[in-house]
Amino acid sequence: MKAKWVGTAAALAVTLAGGAALGQGAADVIKARQQGYKAQGAAFKTINDELKKDAPSVAAIQKATKVLADTATMQYRWFPKGSGPEAGVKTAAKPEIWSDAAGFTAAQKAFQAEAGKLGQAAAKGDLGAIRPQVGATGRTCAGCHNKFRVKT
Ligand code: HEC
Repeated sequence: MKAKWVGTAAALAVTLAGGAALGQGAADVIKARQQGYKAQGAAFKTINDELKKDAPSVAAIQKATKVLADTATMQYRWFPKGSGPEAGVKTAAKPEIWSDAAGFTAAQKAFQAEAGKLGQAAAKGDLGAIRPQVGATGRTCAGCHNKFRVKT
């Protein structure tokens, strides 16, 4: 599962490195980004599901926080100009991502910072620190979605 979307992300990196106008490539970029978010959402769900158990698996949580760390790094390449609604492909990305680029970057950084702290708490295996940090990380997901993602 992880290998699958990492491969797509690598393809995306190649697409962007080409520097060509997005054109036909926009559909691929949007698809890769959505797969990245799917992996991010699945990892976050894994953490929440573990925490509901009587004996959460710290190993599973640690693995999931690594996915979050990866997507937090990659997200900065997921929104080249031309990959918004104007691409004519189904996407929940709002035009504000590009019109308020500073606000969007701030939302990305907030997520990366909180996901990083979550990774640190998980590395220590400290459930007492993991629990509140999951909440803090989740608020950065919602903070960005509220402003920059079309409600589905
Ligand atoms: C900086 C902004 C931002 C942050 C932070 C963010 N997201 Fe999103 N997310 C988006 C945008 C924009 C989309 C829509 C992408 C598209 O449709 O092209 C999206 C889409 C998604 C999707 C749907 C993917 C699909 O198409 O099936 C899921 C699931 C998701 N995000 C989960 C999360 C979770 C969980 C977190 C936090 C751990 C998170 N996101 C943090 C901006 C963000």
